[in-house]
Amino acid sequence: MGNAKKISVLISGRGSNLEALLEAIDAGRIHGRVVRVLSQRADAAGLRHAEKRGILTTVVDVKAYPTRDAFDAALGDAVAADAPDLVVLAGFMRVLGAAIVQRFAGRMINIHPALLPSYPGLHTHQRALADGVKWHGCTVHFVTPEVDVGPFIGQSAVPVLPSDDEATLAARVLEAEHRLLEDAVRWFCADRLSVEGQMVTLRDALPAPVSCQQPQG
Ligand code: GRF
Repeated sequence: MGNAKKISVLISGRGSNLEALLEAIDAGRIHGRVVRVLSQRADAAGLRHAEKRGILTTVVDVKAYPTRDAFDAALGDAVAADAPDLVVLAGFMRVLGAAIVQRFAGRMINIHPALLPSYPGLHTHQRALADGVKWHGCTVHFVTPEVDVGPFIGQSAVPVLPSDDEATLAARVLEAEHRLLEDAVRWFCADRLSVEGQMVTLRDALPAPVSCQQPQG
């Protein structure tokens, strides 16, 4: 096995996906290490979890930059300083411009709380409930300049129950996010992913499952 991959994680808030990743790394389920957690908001609670674990954190304060491009350039420099192998957008709630996305092309992934291509953008749970869909879920994908569109690494579906409101559905999806993000990062760190156009292939995968459960890694 090669060197543990260096991972940078970008967050905007609570950081439960970050926590799930850190637990998986601590438990030896991912051959990687988080070198830094970055946020555009100093008050992102996830930064505190990272600090408690002794992980370096950096705030690139969005308010300190006059334009989106200037912010993206500063954020890109802060990320690139660690030369990460992988950049994980884990609840990072800013749309990134084409320049920074291209800078980390093929090594930047995002977790989105919906089964793309359904429900890109915001308020996914509310929209899924309003449409009366029976299944909802999450997607991990490589980031490309078009928002929530890049090649899909994995998806995990959860049922929508008649009793659901936005909070209960969000909680069910979030649990699925934690497992899916762990899988995706483990596969990336083990060099098991290859991308051709929109298609991501997982090397040495078990036979495709017949149900809608996510494939085993
Ligand atoms: C997650 O649902 C993520 O998919 C969405 O924002 C939420 C962030 O949660 N974009 P957390 O900060 O990882 O707890």
